Amino acid sequence: MKPIFEQHISLQPFNTFGIDQSAQLFARFNTANQLSTWIKEGMLGEQELLVLGGGSNILLTNDFEGLVLKNEITGINFIKEDASHVWVEVGAGVNWHEFVLHCIDHNWAGVENLSLIPGTVGAAPMQNIGAYGVELKDVFDSLIAIQINTGAEVVFNKEECAFGYRESVFKNVVKGEFLITSVTFKLFKQPTFHLDYGAIRETLASMKIEPTIRSISDAVIAIRRSKLPDPAVIGNAGSFFKNPVVNKSIVAGLKETYPAMPTYPVNEDTVKVPAGWLIEKCGWKGYRKGDIGVHQHQALVLVNYGGGKGNELYKLALAIQASVEHQFGIFINTEVNIVGRGS
Ligand code: FAD
Ligand code: EPU
Repeated sequence: MKPIFEQHISLQPFNTFGIDQSAQLFARFNTANQLSTWIKEGMLGEQELLVLGGGSNILLTNDFEGLVLKNEITGINFIKEDASHVWVEVGAGVNWHEFVLHCIDHNWAGVENLSLIPGTVGAAPMQNIGAYGVELKDVFDSLIAIQINTGAEVVFNKEECAFGYRESVFKNVVKGEFLITSVTFKLFKQPTFHLDYGAIRETLASMKIEPTIRSISDAVIAIRRSKLPDPAVIGNAGSFFKNPVVNKSIVAGLKETYPAMPTYPVNEDTVKVPAGWLIEKCGWKGYRKGDIGVHQHQALVLVNYGGGKGNELYKLALAIQASVEHQFGIFINTEVNIVGRGS
């Protein structure tokens, strides 16, 4: 079947920042075969493509003068099991949190700490999503992607994905070359509880409940709701910047001036410094100009109060980066994918 091209579509409902930029062309697909056929038979033309899942990690800075491909591949399929693991293949368009709830309902452990992360399963490997001490890579088996130039299906195993902190091969070496159509997870039959990160243990204690995969999911949901703004209420894309990984010797110097600066160990030589703390110390927390700003309770989250423009948010991000670099000598990279300026 040929693609149905919608023309001059507003992307406002399709990005959690709620930025009102348009796409010249917009098409939905719901099977990998469909997409592969479109590419192989040249039905998508030569135009620039933007793959879209839930739009929860993008910032649109211009109208998109190409074709937006909206991924709507569904399906959660049990593949196999052994004594300790279950393998499940999930369509890339499945909502991430619905997949997490499906796992909890089936008593499959491993993704409970990743509850309530917005977006789709297909985008999750892009930046190796993570929260509360767990990352996607911890439950990842493999994925299938379509090569955008040829329409060929390619399987990537874990090593080939080169996962790192908010990183994968898809964000750098092969950026823009593949469209992920399904992800296979290797989940655990026996849970290992990750309670040490953030306030999970205290939240469970205050709720007077024992750790189970469901209670951990509930605690993570409660913590996230208390800390992060709901995009349905205030436009945002979660953490706008990544937490910088900094050499210990640099941090030691900074701690002479800022003894309270929090750090988290990464390896023998480096630590992670919370970008939210750096941004707050530069005075940006709660900043507002017109309809854009920095969230009043979480300085790592840039927000659109309604009519904000993508390029205003982009300029704000540049100003924040410059002031953090000026004050601390540390560059903070964006986590959010900037569309329209080549990030
Ligand atoms: P989109 O925003 O649609 O796309 C993101 C990027 O991936 C784009 O470059 C897009 O072109 C590309 N892409 C999307 N789908 C595919 C595909 N199938 N194949 C190839 N490329 C694709 N992230 C975390 O890691 N941890 C968190 O705790 C977290 N909390 C968040 C909280 C809030 C309130 C919000 C709004 C966001 C949060 N995020 C978090 C970021 C976001 O949820 C994740 O990055 C998520 O995986 C994005 O999914 P998406 O489908 O919305 O991707
Ligand atoms: N902090 C401040 N001021 C702020 C915000 C944070 O001082 O305005 C300090 C906190 O006091 C704390 C530290 O920064 O000491 C860390 O804060 P928090 O626990 O809120 O975590 P984060 O580093 O801001 C990261 C992820 C989140 C993830 C949470 C929980 C990144 C870039 N962000 O946030 O992921 O949900 O930890 O694991 O790694 C996302 O990627 O979009 C995202 C929301």
